[in-house]
Amino acid sequence: MCGIVGYTGYRQAQPILVGALKRLEYRGYDSAGIALGGEKISVYKDKGEVAHIEAGAPRFTGVWGIAHTRWATHGKPTKNNAHPFMDCNGKVALAHNGIIENYGRLKDDLMRRGHVFTSETDTETVVHLIEENYKGNLEEAARTVVKMLEGSYALVMMHVSEPGKVVAVRKESPLILGIGDGENFVASDVPALLDHTDRVISMQDGEVAVITQDGVTLTDVEGKPVDRGFQRITFTLDDAERGGYEHFMLKEIFEQPRALHDTLVGKLGEDAPYGIPIDGVRLIACGTSYHASLVGKYVIESIAKLPAQVEVASEYRYGAVSREHPFTVLISQSGETADTLAAAKEATRRGCYTVGITNILGSSITREVDETIYTRAGIEIGVAATKTYLTQLAALYLLAMRLGTGRTLRPDTARQMREGLRSLPQHVQRVLNNSEEIEKVAKETSKARDMFFIGRNLNYPVALEGALKMKEISYIHAEGYPAGELKHGPLALLSPEAPVIAIAVKDHTYEKMLSNIGEVSARGSPVVGICSEGDRETPKYVDYVLRVPDVPTIFSPVPVSVVLQLLAYYAARERGCPIDKPRNLAKSVTVE
Ligand code: G6P
Repeated sequence: MCGIVGYTGYRQAQPILVGALKRLEYRGYDSAGIALGGEKISVYKDKGEVAHIEAGAPRFTGVWGIAHTRWATHGKPTKNNAHPFMDCNGKVALAHNGIIENYGRLKDDLMRRGHVFTSETDTETVVHLIEENYKGNLEEAARTVVKMLEGSYALVMMHVSEPGKVVAVRKESPLILGIGDGENFVASDVPALLDHTDRVISMQDGEVAVITQDGVTLTDVEGKPVDRGFQRITFTLDDAERGGYEHFMLKEIFEQPRALHDTLVGKLGEDAPYGIPIDGVRLIACGTSYHASLVGKYVIESIAKLPAQVEVASEYRYGAVSREHPFTVLISQSGETADTLAAAKEATRRGCYTVGITNILGSSITREVDETIYTRAGIEIGVAATKTYLTQLAALYLLAMRLGTGRTLRPDTARQMREGLRSLPQHVQRVLNNSEEIEKVAKETSKARDMFFIGRNLNYPVALEGALKMKEISYIHAEGYPAGELKHGPLALLSPEAPVIAIAVKDHTYEKMLSNIGEVSARGSPVVGICSEGDRETPKYVDYVLRVPDVPTIFSPVPVSVVLQLLAYYAARERGCPIDKPRNLAKSVTVE
């Protein structure tokens, strides 16, 4: 979603704000803007990337200010709709992330009272409300105004009459305070702060922060002080940067052995069984996390022998549930996806026991669930999820084992599972060592207009994820299908311009997969077969072979997914696409 940053201190604010915005561009990048404090507030904003704003902006002097990079939700990406916004008198500047759901009514009322609007955004209503309710103290005005707002928001604002002060308030949209020496910061995400400090405080819903040069004070919405110390960020700025790789995505793909190891370390001991009765599991997520959930369903059903159901969060939250599974798993790498958070709330309302799987410490989802399992992938900057997805799979294997413990999981199977998990990082490393082979195949097939990814059983969701990766970064139209379904429609679309990527690992569906491969090559589609190292059969039927280490079937999604990530990456690079920031997509979708 959008990125927000605020600064107050002793240094010139403009370069600090622009630098921080660049670190947030992965959150949204269709327009950007800055507001600098001084005798008057100066605003510069425009359509386009931060570099464009940097080049175009006059040099403002001022040691406090706010800035924003936008990913449009209400109103097109235009200069007028870019943030920050100012009130009618040019005294307040404000930037927002989220959606004000009742803005239509608020805007009508404000216009009736004579306010002049310059944009089509929901955000602009808030700045006019602050203008109306300002009585000499910005945080007081913020407290009054947020009571009128419905929806989600991270808001940062400043008032010309209160030099050096930035006020921030959040509800269901992340905001982090950065503590410096003689200067302080606020931002929607940690990378914006890492150039300047490693001391942060995560704001929580309903809190109001006053940020000045001397310090940061936190209060609740009624004005009662909140006492919370800072945490030290353990990852360095270097972690958040590309580390020599051409793109964050490639760096993050290559970090996966480490990410898997970190997620599993310390978790491969004996499990204590859950002390609650469990007769089924529901998994809920969006996007790539949804695909991880689909793999999780197969894993839970086969390891814990519990029926598992998977739902897209936006469907679950409005669905009519006849029979609720009390054990509900919510998967969100960011922990901030609006629909998944709402689904977590809904699951709690329905009386479920909730488990969150997330990559972000202290993210919003962790406050909604009964128990959190953290993946330890480290920060992921590329919009397309890679290492966070693979570590979600690792977390799901662990969860399935725990669900089976004391019930269906025999101790020797548990031991084998642990051994299998322990060796996953090295299997992933072997796939990475073969990246040149994958690159060649990607180049050969990258001219395609359409692509089909097929798999069976627990590699069917892996096919879905392969297709998602391909379409989001290379813009090739790609679809994932259960291999048995091709003849019910997609065969009509096959041609030499529509390659098929077939996952043919050795499991009980292997023979069937080979017949499906026969079906597609008979229609003239080039076929890329992903098969195990020792497989002599598959190469006879396919045009390109990509091999994965021979792992127990249950773990095959891990190496296969890495092949598919690299295939998508190299295809996108061949096509010259902006891999880390695909058009129209955002890393974290904090609106419904
Ligand atoms: C966005 C991202 C995807 C991600 C999805 C869910 O669409 O672009 O990569 O899978 O959100 O995000 P979450 O943080 O909830 O896993």
